Parts: sequence; C-alpha cells; structure tokens
Amino acid sequence: MHKAEFQASWKSPSNIAFVKYWGKKTEQIPCNPSISMTLDKCCTTTKLVAYPCDSQNILYSFKLEGKSKPEFSLRIEKFLLRLSEDYPALKNYCYEIESSNSFPHSSGIASSASAFSALSLCIVDFLKHLNLLRGEFFEIASYYSRIGSGSASRSVFGSYALWGESMNMGSHEVAIPLEVADFWKELRDTIILVDEGEKSVSSSAGHALMQNHPLASARFEQAKSNTEKLIKLLQSKDITNNKVYEFGSLIEEEAMSLHAMMMTSSPSYILFKAKTIEVIDRLKEWRKEEKLAVFFTLDAGPNIHLIYFSKDKSKVDEFLSSLDLKTIDDKCGHGPERL
Ligand code: PMV
Repeated sequence: MHKAEFQASWKSPSNIAFVKYWGKKTEQIPCNPSISMTLDKCCTTTKLVAYPCDSQNILYSFKLEGKSKPEFSLRIEKFLLRLSEDYPALKNYCYEIESSNSFPHSSGIASSASAFSALSLCIVDFLKHLNLLRGEFFEIASYYSRIGSGSASRSVFGSYALWGESMNMGSHEVAIPLEVADFWKELRDTIILVDEGEKSVSSSAGHALMQNHPLASARFEQAKSNTEKLIKLLQSKDITNNKVYEFGSLIEEEAMSLHAMMMTSSPSYILFKAKTIEVIDRLKEWRKEEKLAVFFTLDAGPNIHLIYFSKDKSKVDEFLSSLDLKTIDDKCGHGPERL
C-alpha cells in the first residue's frame, strides 16, 4: 500500500422530516418536496483515508464500529462507482472508510441520512483536495448525499432544510438550508424506542411501492401543500399558540399519511407496533389534560419522535418516565462538523 495522500473525518447528523419524502423517480429525485429539522446528537462520524493506487476499479474497505459490514458493501460500492462516473480521477485511489454512530445501531433511527451525508462530506472534501470541485462545497455534498440516500441530502445543513421545489425556492437535486424564525430552533425531539428490531420492509422497497399506488397523486399534492404551509409557519414572525397547534397538526398528519401509504400499498404492510398506537393514544390524553404543545411524528418505523419546546422538557420527562421505554433525547442541531 502507498502512503496515504488524504485523510478527513466528518461528523454528520440524522434529521427528522416534518413533511415526508415518500416516493421517488430515478436517481433519488423525489415525487414531492420535504422539510426536515436537523438533529444534534444522533450522528455518524466517518473517516476517509485515500491512498494512490493503480487499479481501474474502485477499491475500498468499510468498517462500522470497527467491524466489517458486508451487508452495506453493495450500497457503498454503487455509491462510489456513481461518484467516479462524474469524477474518474477517484479511480486512481483506494479508500479506507471507518464509521461509527452516536446512537445504537438497532435503535430504529434512520442511520442512512447521517451515514451517507458523512461519507459524501468526506469525499467532497477529497475532491476539493484534488482541486476538482466546481461549485459550492455543501451544495455538492448535498447532491451526492442525495444519491446515497434521499433524506441524507437534507442532513448537510443545520437547523432546517428544504429538499424539492416549493414557493419559488429549492431544487429536487439538492437540499437548501431553510431560514426559520429562531423560535423553531428551540424544538426538541425525544425518540421513544417502541421497538428496536430490523424493519420488515426497507425504505427503498416502500418508495418503490408508491409507483403504482392508487393514492399516490393525492399524497404528492398533500405533501406539496403541507410544504408551503410549513414554510409559511416556520418563517412567520407572528408566533401565536394557534400557529404552534397548526404546526403540530401538520406534522402529525404527515406522519399518519406516510404510514397510511404503507398500509394501502400493494402488497400492504404495517410498521406500527401495538405499542406505537398505545403511546400515541396516551400522548393525546396526557397533552389534553396538561394543555401542552407536545406533538408526535414517525419515520418509516414504529418509533415515536416527540416534538416539543425546551420549556416543556421537565413535563415531557414526567410523561416519558410513566411509559418505561428507552428514549434518545435530541434537539434541533447545527449541522455537520469537520473533525
Ligand atoms: O432517504 P430514504 O430513502 O431512507 O427515505 C426516507 C424516508 C422518510 O424517512 C420516511 C421520510 C423523510 O423524508 O426522511
């Protein structure tokens, strides 16, 4: 092996979508725009080391938490090959990629967003080192993150991100940072781990089932309309209690619609567990009694993300301790960091 020519480490967060991306065209072009809040603690850290080598194939090794993971190889290889079509010089190197997650691997947190954004940031950093970057660093990182995993395109920006076109902003090829009133940066996300097992149907299979879904066009229209509504809510300077409850209904509608798509696709499937429904019911009763603005959303899995403001954290902690389930405490974050 030659001497390493380049080394970089990036720590990149996961994100939680408030308007959901569900359904894609080719190369991860979404059927509807989406908006997410970038998380703070749920991160992947990836180190990339590049060595000059003569092979005309992409040679690489990958380790997650110090262990080889053949189950991820095909996806990483496809990703690196796709990048080398745009940048053939990448084939003059071989790579060592080492990743670790700040959250437990089986916790049901979408790790592809943090994983592919961390890897893309490392590679775009390498392209910069090779003097091959033509364009803005984070925009290119978002573009390639998207190729790895659609939702990863939004993770390269802190706070909030928009992916797709809405209100004369954005693009379906890259996410953009979404300006929001500071108030919304106080949001927290506590993930209630209802079930830590592997998902029975992957997100890729779920996206594919939207292709012949009888409700697809209605769903894409709903997501477009919710994206506009959410942008207006998040950017408005006039923040009233009513606006906060409008936000809450919107994100809950989005979560339920996402899962409704799964339950009505052909074949249909259910990622909810009995506990998912029990916790949602208990949350609705509790917040009504306490008169608190605490809302839920879900990813493509059974775990519940509680979305609320920092000022209500101690009340939420009381509710959580009554559930006796594992939780991951997170909040709105600042985006990726080069280590
Ligand atoms: O990025 P993917 O292909 O894993 O899809 C993610 C889809 C959701 O997490 C359910 C929604 C979203 O917008 O993040």
